Amino acid sequence: MNADLHPDIVDVVATEEDIAEALERISAQVREDYDGTDLLLVGVLKGAVMVMADLSRRLGTHTQMDWMAVSSYGSGTKSSGVVRILKDLDTDLAGRHVLVVEDIIDSGITLSWLLKNLRSRGAASVEVATLLRKPAAAKVTVDVKYVGIEIPDKFVVGYGLDYAERYRTLPYVGVLAPHVYSDSATLA
Ligand code: PRP
Repeated sequence: MNADLHPDIVDVVATEEDIAEALERISAQVREDYDGTDLLLVGVLKGAVMVMADLSRRLGTHTQMDWMAVSSYGSGTKSSGVVRILKDLDTDLAGRHVLVVEDIIDSGITLSWLLKNLRSRGAASVEVATLLRKPAAAKVTVDVKYVGIEIPDKFVVGYGLDYAERYRTLPYVGVLAPHVYSDSATLA
């Protein structure tokens, strides 16, 4: 066991090196595919903050960024299926090439809803880049062009991902010890 591992983490599913390698691979592909075209990165708050920071710095100056905050109602460890906008984009998407930047696709419900919403705004193209995807947790099929790392269907935190707003600052992605979320009253 790694001595630096946070005591609430039972396993690491993506190390700092894994993350860097995945983002390098995605950014190389994005640079090739868009080849100098103006590209708008749309980050989904708050989880995508780390991915956005590290991916955008690997892309060129043709890249701009904007942010949305959405909520799939409720908290805890599962998506509920009902999505609402907490913060909308500042940018008009008409004619823009958009790349949605996500930290994780779990059930796919958030992203599926978001893609429909963004595509209805007249963008020239809308694609998705996600650092993590849980294939075994998919409830809806979403076409995702750039996937970093496929992970098991476990509750993970770190590198932007939280439980009750904690653990986002871990530099790796790890499986949260079940006792933490069965003991959630102590986190309030
Ligand atoms: C997480 C994550 C994705 C979404 C994925 O966000 O950042 O946006 O859930 O889940 P899904 O595929 O099952 O829809 P969350 O709602 O936890 O908000 P946060 O990013 O602010 O932590």
